[in-house]
Amino acid sequence: MRAHRSWAEPWKIKMVEPIRMTTPEERNAAIAEAGYNTFLLRADDVYIDLLTDSGTSAMSDRQWAALMIGDEAYAGASSFYRLVDAVRDVYGYQELVPTHQGRGAEHILSQILIEPGDVVPGNMYFTTTRFHQEHAGGRFVDVIVDEAHDPYSLHPFKGNVDLDKLAAVVDTYGAERIPYVSVETNVNMAGGQPVSLANLRDVYDFCSSRGILVMLDATRALENAHFIKERERGYESWTIAEILHEITRWSDGATVSSKKDNLVNIGGFLALRDPELARRARELLVAFEGLHTYGGMSGRDMEALAAGIREMVATDDHVRARIGQVAYLGDALLKMGVPIVQPVGGHGVFIDAAAVLDHLDQDVFPAQALTAEIYREGGVRGMERGIVSAGRDPVSGDHRRPRLELVRLAIPRRVYTQSHMDVVAESVAAVAERRHEIGGLRMTYEPESLRFFQARFEPLAS
Ligand SMILES: Cc1ncc(COP(=O)(O)O)c(C=O)c1O
Repeated sequence: MRAHRSWAEPWKIKMVEPIRMTTPEERNAAIAEAGYNTFLLRADDVYIDLLTDSGTSAMSDRQWAALMIGDEAYAGASSFYRLVDAVRDVYGYQELVPTHQGRGAEHILSQILIEPGDVVPGNMYFTTTRFHQEHAGGRFVDVIVDEAHDPYSLHPFKGNVDLDKLAAVVDTYGAERIPYVSVETNVNMAGGQPVSLANLRDVYDFCSSRGILVMLDATRALENAHFIKERERGYESWTIAEILHEITRWSDGATVSSKKDNLVNIGGFLALRDPELARRARELLVAFEGLHTYGGMSGRDMEALAAGIREMVATDDHVRARIGQVAYLGDALLKMGVPIVQPVGGHGVFIDAAAVLDHLDQDVFPAQALTAEIYREGGVRGMERGIVSAGRDPVSGDHRRPRLELVRLAIPRRVYTQSHMDVVAESVAAVAERRHEIGGLRMTYEPESLRFFQARFEPLAS
């Protein structure tokens, strides 16, 4: 029998940033001061930071070098044209509307396409995406497959759109009330779960025959491409670059937060096929983001982004190593008996807080409480993805009650080592072991929108 052969990341480390372990007393004080919300912690008080994979990647030496050739001309910078070329080559969209980050692109797209009273079907909500759809007067309707709401379903494409649900929405509201269908790749709130190419093609065929646009949230399309290569028959021998092109082919445009797949710390874009839609987007862009040749980015940001876009597809090993590290953490947690969303997704491991803290009602915010406890245990920072993130229904004012009540441990790209992942798994397992000692929380401050970012809590008296 051939011995198992390990594989490793296709890079080595050239520069390091020291991190500091705190004492339990320091962490108790820090989390209380942060109102039991890990978004309100100071980064200096965090040992291993898995709050988000957004804007937290390590850039390569090539990207740092690219910063130096950033063209800071107000209009028509050469860096912008290099970015246009990179997006055309890698994503296949001709029209580029640069923005400061993903939500800037979501804002512009929602404003140009949504009229008050419109309905936007999508494969599970994302916080900022739905906010901008509602802000423009629209209403989001979830059309993801049922398996996405089941943390233990092993469906290989839990991000897929359920075409029957989509057809029912079109029947109920009429195609004229649906400006576009919003399809997210590697669905964040479902645990980083992919959409299949067959499903993307079916959705596009369904929509285009009814005059409905398909807009991707292609923020994590690269990671989605990896899962297609691994799981969808017929694509095993395709390169990641080829699969990415095939993903975007079945769409009319995309919003992208470049802080994820694209390996930069800030940036984003709206990409479109229709020049007339792009013209309308640029009209708004100059008011909200910046001139149409920089959006919200500096020349050096655009230069590093263009380099990052090309780098992410230069070798298939990059995304394989990235997702391999996420799978490593997921496997470690499973071996330690911690319930997590399966299959493990692309950008992080999602702990089933409802199962770990099954003695707590959803009204006392189990995922928020577990997130705070994981920080207290080992200085590991994750994020709540449950009832707090879901917010309130704008009409009834009641909490939305998502079926998934999760703690997300999102892994920055090219930042932490396998030993860091071991420490994370051990910390989480230690918390899970003493789960019956963990109580719920009460919300003491609730922002009106996107409350999870700044809400404050206190422990309920036990
Ligand atoms: C799927 C998805 N869409 C949009 C966004 C928003 O992007 P940004 O944070 O760059 O505004 C995010 C960020 O986390 C995301 O995960």
